[in-house]
Amino acid sequence: MAPQREIRILDNSEDLFQAAAVDFAALATEAVRQTGRFCVALSGGSTPKGLYSLLADDVVPSIPWGRICFFWGDERHVPPDNPESNYAMAYEAMLSKVPVRLQNVFRIHAELKDADAVAVSYEQDLRTFFNLRPGEFPRFDLVLLGLGPDGHTASLFPGTTALHEKDRLVVANWVEKFKAYRFTLTLPVLNQSACVMFLVSGKEKSEILREVLENPSADLPSQKVRPADGRLLWLVDRVAASALSHQTKDTARPANF
Ligand code: 6PG
Repeated sequence: MAPQREIRILDNSEDLFQAAAVDFAALATEAVRQTGRFCVALSGGSTPKGLYSLLADDVVPSIPWGRICFFWGDERHVPPDNPESNYAMAYEAMLSKVPVRLQNVFRIHAELKDADAVAVSYEQDLRTFFNLRPGEFPRFDLVLLGLGPDGHTASLFPGTTALHEKDRLVVANWVEKFKAYRFTLTLPVLNQSACVMFLVSGKEKSEILREVLENPSADLPSQKVRPADGRLLWLVDRVAASALSHQTKDTARPANF
């Protein structure tokens, strides 16, 4: 049965990041209590930077930084010091400021020229870390995702081959509009996770958010993210939610965090 998606509408982006930070801390604490570690796949783009900075500012106490294992949901085909790098953004906003163990930071080695080699090596990192047998998929405790203006998420863009991947964990996905490869976790991996949290902020996302949440036949990549046995959280701010129907807004959980 498809998971019940949870939609939360926060008054503004500050409240959105605060709510996400509280959830991040609660999920981390619970996972560490249960398994001794918290495995999270970080999102790229600009939206999550607000969350990463807030987490680094220690606004939410007692985050078990030493027990958190960091992965990425996707990456651009650039070296880690490139301003386009999702790793670089998370490092500057958070990882360089908090007591994480460097051996627990698993970035995508996107500096390699051979795009397939990048994807194969990261898949091997995941298979080793999660001690997977052939055919098994990793279960992240939390996957952070954004929503692109075309309905893409991670680097799963409309009309691209990665959307049809059933076996691989990570692929090099050619994105024609960028004339470049992007590296991305595949849908089977995203849908194996215990919790997926979409962060969506800004007026420019209002139309695509309405399409994703209210038009099932749109067949957009972000609509294909449905954890089989996990939570699906949509944390959105009020301007991003401005095009949603009253019916959808009524299903949204009040913004108390
Ligand atoms: C990336 C992301 C991508 C992002 C969306 C939204 O590498 O760009 O992982 O999926 O989440 O494009 O980006 P913004 O948050 O910048 O709007």
